[in-house]
Amino acid sequence: MKKVNIKNFKKTLSMFSTGITVVCVKNKNTIFGKTVNSFNSLSLKPPMVLFSLGNYSSSINQFSNTKFLSINILSSKQRKLSENFASSTPELENIKFIEGRNKTVLIPNCLANLECELIDKIKKGDHIIFISKILELQSNDKLKPLVYFNSKYF
Ligand SMILES: Cc1cc2nc3c(=O)[nH]c(=O)nc-3n(C[C@H](O)[C@H](O)[C@H](O)COP(=O)(O)O)c2cc1C
Repeated sequence: MKKVNIKNFKKTLSMFSTGITVVCVKNKNTIFGKTVNSFNSLSLKPPMVLFSLGNYSSSINQFSNTKFLSINILSSKQRKLSENFASSTPELENIKFIEGRNKTVLIPNCLANLECELIDKIKKGDHIIFISKILELQSNDKLKPLVYFNSKYF
């Protein structure tokens, strides 16, 4: 075993394969989206999920001050969307966002979409954990997931 540093922490955690989500909020007609793989299921009753965002993120205030948000689970065909929303200035013009029922915007053609109400935030280290209750959801099991492992897409 080795002593932990940032480099071997990142490398070791990259051995855990994940799906990829884009989390979105709409604030005064402006859409903010972030690529996030720290998404996880939290509770069945009530149905809750979580993800964490770096408190250094350019969008941290938008997510911290929202009441509603969407979590969009990307399919294998949506790698470009993942790259786009990992940028501080993502392109939004060519995305035909769908209006959700709960003041959210959804990305079309995803593996799954969740409309959520933000119910809690927990600051830990250099990240904030966002805990959300799921209000509505949909999924398409005919699609395949976008998978991230060892800093590469599969
Ligand atoms: C595959 C992938 C997964 C990511 N997951 C997270 C995450 O869970 N939490 C996070 O804060 N940033 C995550 N990021 C980084 C953000 O998408 C974004 O690049 C970072 O927040 C810097 O941009 P910003 O300052 O505009 O927010 C991920 C990036 C990639 C490519």
